[in-house]
Amino acid sequence: VLAIWHQLTKAEIPELAKCSVLMRDRSRVEDTIYAMQRAGAGRLQVISDFDMTLTRFAHNGKRVPTTHNILDHRLLIDEDCSKKIRELLNTYYPIEIDAGRTAEDKLPLMVEWWTQVHELLIQQRIRKDLLAQAVKESSAMLREGYKVFFDRLTEQQVPLLIFSAGVGDVLEEVIRQNNVFHPNVHIISNYMDFDQTGVLRAFQGQLIHTFNKREGALSHASGLRVLQGRPNVLLLGDSLGDLTMADGVSEHQNILTIGFLNDQMDERKELYVKSFDVVLVKDETMEVPNAILKYIT
Ligand code: C5P
Ligand code: MG
Repeated sequence: VLAIWHQLTKAEIPELAKCSVLMRDRSRVEDTIYAMQRAGAGRLQVISDFDMTLTRFAHNGKRVPTTHNILDHRLLIDEDCSKKIRELLNTYYPIEIDAGRTAEDKLPLMVEWWTQVHELLIQQRIRKDLLAQAVKESSAMLREGYKVFFDRLTEQQVPLLIFSAGVGDVLEEVIRQNNVFHPNVHIISNYMDFDQTGVLRAFQGQLIHTFNKREGALSHASGLRVLQGRPNVLLLGDSLGDLTMADGVSEHQNILTIGFLNDQMDERKELYVKSFDVVLVKDETMEVPNAILKYIT
């Protein structure tokens, strides 16, 4: 019987047969998708990372900015600060994606990176009312097919939890300007704290970085009412740290994890295939998640 189902999903989701799609265990993926389809949209939630997952990694050979990098705009920060932030990126990003180091090893270094950048941003007294313009003038870009993704989840009333170690205020502005900040979208991220005059004075709450999403999942996501009674999870991420974003889902039944492998492909391929159910290699589109969603809902 199972063999028939496998052919069924293969015929229904030909996108999974593309050579950029890697799977450790194809039949498990197909069984999970099939179980999710039987349970239906009413039992599903989608949990997604933001930077380099919902946004593109590169476009026309140029890196697309993360929410932090969007803040590197002459309206918001001076040249000296911009230089320091870039130096920090050059120091810490290679560590973040280093396949030779464990998450445990990277964790304190990520805290260092985020803390230093947030302090620099606070010193710049960034104005809330200029964020929208900075986003507008940035080269921020969601993945091809993003509209189908967001719109379908809204139509099917499936909650989308965006769980980001980026900057929440910037993230919201990016999805607002792309007309997909729908009511089913919920966000957990690092939000700015502005004083009464609208000047940045701190960041709110516990810092979220790439490798502590589990804590955020347990303290924030698990309390979200709209996610309750939805034991099936489609999880999207680009970092191994993103795999813990569903740790707050109690009584989960089926979890399908999709990982975008954007950078250091050769070094990280094995690790990604071992860790995510589906790995998308150098794929700048939402084609595969969209095809799976179309089948499930
Ligand atoms: O949304 P997501 O959780 O992916 O956001 C975090 C990403 O932002 C990290 O993967 C990191 O590479 C990037 N980052 C950055 N500048 C910082 C801190 C993080 O570009 N100062
Ligand atoms: Mg990311």
